[in-house]
Amino acid sequence: MFQNENKLISKNSAHIIVFGNEKGGTGKSTVAMHVAVGLLRLGYRVGTIDLDNHQGTLTQYIENRKSFSNTHEVLPIPEHIHIKRVEHNNLMQQKLAEQELVEQAINKLKQSNDYIIIDTPGSNTYMSIVGHSFADTIVTPINDSFVDLDLLARFDKKARFEIKPNVYTRMIWDLRNQREKRDDKFVDWVVMRNRLAHLYSRNKNEVGVVLDRLSKSLGFRLASGFGERVVFRELFLEGRTLLDIKETGENKLSISNIAARQEVRHLIKTILPEKSAMTMSLLRTA
Ligand SMILES: Nc1ncnc2c1ncn2[C@@H]1O[C@H](COP(=O)(O)OP(=O)(O)OP(=O)(O)O)[C@@H](O)[C@H]1O
Ligand SMILES: [Mg+2]
Repeated sequence: MFQNENKLISKNSAHIIVFGNEKGGTGKSTVAMHVAVGLLRLGYRVGTIDLDNHQGTLTQYIENRKSFSNTHEVLPIPEHIHIKRVEHNNLMQQKLAEQELVEQAINKLKQSNDYIIIDTPGSNTYMSIVGHSFADTIVTPINDSFVDLDLLARFDKKARFEIKPNVYTRMIWDLRNQREKRDDKFVDWVVMRNRLAHLYSRNKNEVGVVLDRLSKSLGFRLASGFGERVVFRELFLEGRTLLDIKETGENKLSISNIAARQEVRHLIKTILPEKSAMTMSLLRTA
């Protein structure tokens, strides 16, 4: 298990939100970008770190945003760092070097930002564990199926009752214990459903019931999540999010996209429960 003995990250630093799970393609990078832009639009200073060496989706999203901002409309852009995996013959030295890179990036961004958003790869890499170890809040998007729930807990296949916490949950529990001992800090964990089907289905209903139960037994808060919407894929190419589109004028949002935007706002509210309703209402006019 990863032991984070580092004391360089001071307790009074920026709030760190890590987007992770060990399964690929559940929406970590997309959701991370929407939350980063939401916080920017609320007036916070936001730094972002991409730990996904292989795909670098968040990095590409921000590159697309810079291009759009240069050619179309000026958009708020987070201070971004993309950390690449270290290649080393010695595994121990490779891990130390990766840990140092993450610490350096956090230390740099925390100087000038209120929030740091960390996007992790969809696999169990050391870099991902290091990223999780610095979280004040962990956000785990999951797709709406029992395959994704398996990441959180092992189930009795017939009864659909959880038997024991699975590997990702155990990692979070270990990190929570470490943080509590080291900093006397409780790490918040929010699980959100992503790509929810719009129509009722038995599976959708069952997943909802099980997740509700799991949130109590495994210790996470459940966010209401995002529906399945093509607009998420379209906006990536422009580097924009739903929070960048004006609700009036020629780019007027469709009813479906207004609903999607509400889902994004709702998620940000769930992640930041301490923020006042007045602060959150600023997102309405973004
Ligand atoms: N709510 C949604 N509706 C429709 N498409 C979505 C939604 N959320 C994400 N997607 C799409 O799903 C794909 C995977 O999303 P994304 O890259 O954010 O996942 P990820 O968890 O970061 O993946 P990886 O584990 O590979 O890093 C992308 O094409 C993205 O546009
Ligand atoms: Mg990703």
